[in-house]
Amino acid sequence: MRDMRISRRAALMGAGAVAAWAASPARALLDAAGQLTVPGFVDDLVGRMTLEEKAGQLSLMASAWGGGVAASLNPPGAGSSFPQQVEEARQGELTGVFNGNGARMARILQTAAVKDSRLKIPLIFAADIIHGHRTIFPVPLAEVASFEPDLARRTAAAAAFEAAGAGIDWTFSPMCDVARDQRWGRGVEGGGEDVLLGQLFAAARVHGFQGADLKSNDRMMACIKHFAAYGAGEAGLDYNTVDVSERTLREVYLQPYKAGFDAGAMSGMASFNEISGVPSTGSHWLMTELLRGEWGFQGFIVSDYTGDEEMILHGFAKDGRDAARLALIAGVDMSMQSGLYRKYLPDLVRKGEVPEAVLNQSVRRVLAAKAMLGLFDNPFGRIDEKREQARSLLPATRSLAREAGRKSIVLLKNDGDLLPLPRSGKKIAVIGPFAAGAHDLVGPWVVYGDDAKAIDLAVGIRAALADKSGLIVAEGSGVEEAKPGGIEQAVAAARQADIIVLAIGESQGMSGEAQSRTEIVVPEAQQQLAEAVAAVGKPVVVVLKHGRALALEGAVANAQAILATWFLGTETGHAIADVLFGAYSPSARLPASFPRASGQEPYYYAHKPTGRPNPDGPLEAYKAHFRGIPNSALYPFGHGLTYGRIEYGGLEVSAPTMGMTGEIVVRARVANRGKRAAEEVVQLYTHDRTASITRPVRELKAFRKIALAPGQAETVEFRLRASDLSFIGRGNKPVVEPGTFDVWIAPSAETDGPKASFELTA
Ligand code: NOJ
Repeated sequence: MRDMRISRRAALMGAGAVAAWAASPARALLDAAGQLTVPGFVDDLVGRMTLEEKAGQLSLMASAWGGGVAASLNPPGAGSSFPQQVEEARQGELTGVFNGNGARMARILQTAAVKDSRLKIPLIFAADIIHGHRTIFPVPLAEVASFEPDLARRTAAAAAFEAAGAGIDWTFSPMCDVARDQRWGRGVEGGGEDVLLGQLFAAARVHGFQGADLKSNDRMMACIKHFAAYGAGEAGLDYNTVDVSERTLREVYLQPYKAGFDAGAMSGMASFNEISGVPSTGSHWLMTELLRGEWGFQGFIVSDYTGDEEMILHGFAKDGRDAARLALIAGVDMSMQSGLYRKYLPDLVRKGEVPEAVLNQSVRRVLAAKAMLGLFDNPFGRIDEKREQARSLLPATRSLAREAGRKSIVLLKNDGDLLPLPRSGKKIAVIGPFAAGAHDLVGPWVVYGDDAKAIDLAVGIRAALADKSGLIVAEGSGVEEAKPGGIEQAVAAARQADIIVLAIGESQGMSGEAQSRTEIVVPEAQQQLAEAVAAVGKPVVVVLKHGRALALEGAVANAQAILATWFLGTETGHAIADVLFGAYSPSARLPASFPRASGQEPYYYAHKPTGRPNPDGPLEAYKAHFRGIPNSALYPFGHGLTYGRIEYGGLEVSAPTMGMTGEIVVRARVANRGKRAAEEVVQLYTHDRTASITRPVRELKAFRKIALAPGQAETVEFRLRASDLSFIGRGNKPVVEPGTFDVWIAPSAETDGPKASFELTA
């Protein structure tokens, strides 16, 4: 087995892996009873603070340093200038800033806070470190394709090492929003469509960012976002209405956030959306009753960027004053960017509209987090200009980015074993807007990364080729616009070549925040390029760049080989070349289903059955399908090929029945009949045939990544207990019901093939 860590952890999954994560070292940040240890001096400080100073501790602003990099990543706001922010720090009107520009800026502001302010409370420095600081790792969705949560832990830890070295205490990550509609642009930042993967990656990332000692200058505080259900916006439109049953909320959308909080994340961010009529930012039920009451969360919650103020346009708050009151009372401790807390909270408390005890509690939570981060012990602990440089883009970090990159690439199709390509003896034409050039490499949501420091595809391929003269590069088209003469140039290049690598897809600006798409296809200009190049008649490998699952059409769908490569970051070109030329056998699996057409969205494998499913085979009248299109995926969740030839067989369950306290073993024989070594992600799915609440057609319960040499076979076993079969029943409480369960051990969520069943008895 190549990776014992994931294998061991995966082995646990059938028997409560999420509970195992809950016992992670990050939990050591709390005391044995799971309570936050608030140092005595915090209460003493709170006792000495004015109402204005308290409101200041709850006010976070985008940094204005250097023209305000923060402003380019969010809507422009009428914020203060940098000198004004320094003055605000002196006056105790700021708890900290975000997306600023590193150690130098932090030193100036921190000096103002701890030398010149009345109470000398240190500032906190935050940033959107979503998939790396200066070394950029694959976008989060891509990393989930590795089906290797420990990889995400390692890249999060490496990102924390670089970022904390540059003065950053707190990252606005991980995003834990389940995303089941690929039109939504922000799926790229999260854990995909599945609950189990979402839970495991949320916990792994928290673990990586925070480690066991938040005081360390290698670590930073994680922030679980966007709480809650931000990924469930109607029609995949960013910021849109969410109307979802409490049952589905609890069973699906809330689970990854909970796993992140349970892993010890000390902060969370409220989502922009409303949930069934109540904006998250103003939801007492969500922020206080559920999060603090039921789940026992001890940290603090920050609003999203002007999220409190936006409750006015939601039609929930009358004005800014009302918005500040509603958000704080709901349990949102800190306001990001609107300035409403510092403007209105002192007066709201003076007039008795907000109890001072509520304000004090929020201040206490924020100061306790600052203490945990070691900011009171040494406010400059992470601020060191020399260390910032010394930790940037180190060879070991880049090498981790290359490993993460190649482990994130999904081989969707490989007809006639076109891949891997030979390193010599063939002319290769790399064609498309993503063939070469320092653009679209680092991907969306990068504050500090730089395309100019990244390896593009042509450079990666050239480095891998034994005969460098065999490479031809042609742009062919822009991303969304045709280029004059581009297709002619591309066709000429294709004619000279033996093999075509077509580097097409989405630019990084096409996914991420506010980038919802109505059609999730390869843009028209590039589709035309693909059709023209394919017509030359040479073998085509499509190398897709994308921030979401796409609906592939025409020459793109019909290419002999297709690689889903997402945005892989600093080592993009090398990582793709590793897979193209067989230095690495692809091992990733889709974390989001590729539908047959955009109109199927939201499409996800764990959908409910209908009363009229179309049977296997041709489309039938009065059955659930679209005109001419079956409602199945072109490439389902979990799908991905290797350079081996993997066969599944011998599925068996250890007993026909299982009691409520027993367990059952499900096993299958997985063999590599190919000529190359490969890693396979073996997946266990179940279906509960009849229940008091209908159940999805399949649910992923466990998986394991195994390495198989040519000719090697392994029996893969998973253990299932009754608790693994629980669901949120009537009354919104977890239940386990006796009945018949189907079980598959399979290479994807929609693979037919051996299935068994067992009976859960009362
Ligand atoms: C808005 C985004 O929704 C959030 O994810 C991000 O952390 C903040 N802006 C701060 O940049």
